Amino acid sequence: MSKLFVANWKSNKTLEEVRQWMDDFKVELNDDQEIVIAPPYPFLSLVADKIKDLPGVSLAVQNLSSFPAGSYTGEVCVRNLEGLGVKYAIVGHSERRRYLKESHQDVANKVSQALNNGITPIVCIDQDYMEDQAQLIESDLLSQCVVAYEPLVAIGTGENAPVKEVAKVVKEIKEVFGEVPVLYGGSVSPDNVILYLEITDGVLVGGASLDVGVFAELIKSN
Ligand code: PGA
Repeated sequence: MSKLFVANWKSNKTLEEVRQWMDDFKVELNDDQEIVIAPPYPFLSLVADKIKDLPGVSLAVQNLSSFPAGSYTGEVCVRNLEGLGVKYAIVGHSERRRYLKESHQDVANKVSQALNNGITPIVCIDQDYMEDQAQLIESDLLSQCVVAYEPLVAIGTGENAPVKEVAKVVKEIKEVFGEVPVLYGGSVSPDNVILYLEITDGVLVGGASLDVGVFAELIKSN
């Protein structure tokens, strides 16, 4: 499988900044690399349009409604995404668990919504609730997930996790979820990305994806 480089922009960027980022994004990818851009919802359509002729570049959402289409004001469900070419959905990011009080059950419902509608969920977990989270996901869906190991202490802190520790958790994740692709996220930078690519199937990048030059450097360090 290709190495995934997921750019999670979180709640950053204006329309103009997104246009600029996309215009400046000129990276030659190897065959075994896949870039996944996860912009805020209002920019999905713009990014979808800009990447449509770029092989190896895919689109993700940063979240997904746990409900189907219907009377759920403010939610964005799978049906709303039809026609945009969204391939992945990040679900259960620790910031959503923390600030939006997302429960393991909410995340499990999002996994079902995604997979039942042709979108691959990237399930974010920390080590201490990995098993509790997995238990609530329908068993036949578990092995269809991509899992991102994101230790809380490493997110946005510059304190990227020790590689040995990540390797250990990657093994545990595969024991619980099956032979799924596992990503690492938490202060990934052009300086440390290579270490994680040796032991994972890719990286989930926050801060270092905001500047297109830094993100391109990170991809090239592979
Ligand atoms: P960071 O964020 O790269 O800024 O640490 C990663 C994430 O939250 O997915």
